[in-house]
Amino acid sequence: MTTRPSPAPALPGLAGQIAEALGKSLTVAELYGPVGGPVYHELTADDTNEVRDLLALLRPRRGPVLELACGSGRLTVPLLAAGHEVTGVDTSKSLLSTLRARMTEPAAQRLSRRLTLVEADMCTLDLGRSFSTVLLGTTTIGLVPPHRRPDFFRRVHDHLEPEGVFVLSAHAPSAGADGGPGDTLRPWTTPGAVNFLIERADTDREQRHVAILRVSDTGSPLLLTSTVHVPSTKALTGELTGAGFVVDAVQPARPTTAAPAELSIVIARRTA
Ligand SMILES: C[S@@+](CC[C@H](N)C(=O)[O-])C[C@H]1O[C@@H](n2cnc3c(N)ncnc32)[C@H](O)[C@@H]1O
Repeated sequence: MTTRPSPAPALPGLAGQIAEALGKSLTVAELYGPVGGPVYHELTADDTNEVRDLLALLRPRRGPVLELACGSGRLTVPLLAAGHEVTGVDTSKSLLSTLRARMTEPAAQRLSRRLTLVEADMCTLDLGRSFSTVLLGTTTIGLVPPHRRPDFFRRVHDHLEPEGVFVLSAHAPSAGADGGPGDTLRPWTTPGAVNFLIERADTDREQRHVAILRVSDTGSPLLLTSTVHVPSTKALTGELTGAGFVVDAVQPARPTTAAPAELSIVIARRTA
């Protein structure tokens, strides 16, 4: 019996047209997987979005931090440098191994003593201990399917000490952005490569299809894909309340010099 690889999922819009036009000369892969992970890290490592806001929010907090979906450590490393003890959780072997490698660099070695990494699905997480703060940055709540969010929030609740705080960021498109069907395309160059960020909002605006087309001076072109849900902060507030949290604040993230932030930070507290 012969086995065939399962067909790539149909991609909507421009990403789908590119995949069809380039056929086998294009490698289509998941953004956070073994092929996409190193590219994701390269493209986002210098992104400072949220960093100042999260450091300011966590500065007065004592006790260990659980960082969900830590990836290659864009937020983890500044948290460690600020003196926090961090447990980072992610499903991506590729991004976790990048973070482990970063921790062996001479400047980071002293920070690594405060870091524990766990490869696990945050939606089914059971670490058997509690934290003072749980953090889910980078609008990664959008990667949790809507029907799994209520259970996920209860799980976060169970990993917090009483009065512990859950800080999460959510996509907050500016008025007029993501406003209709069709693709937006943003090109940018990195050493040896041209990258195109292709985004497409579903007409009901509840999810966005994100693809990065990368054409580089090495290897075949890559199309790295991800689908993100775009829950409103109102919906998140209702679900968090249902899971036993009090939402203390929803605040806009400060824009960086590179881009408007287009995200909100939600601060929810576990009640007894
Ligand atoms: C947008 S990236 C953010 C990574 C990192 N926080 C950053 O700022 O670069 C989303 C991350 O979520 C991880 N992820 C997605 N679903 C997950 C899940 N169910 N459990 C744990 N990690 C998950 C991905 O592997 C990826 O590292």
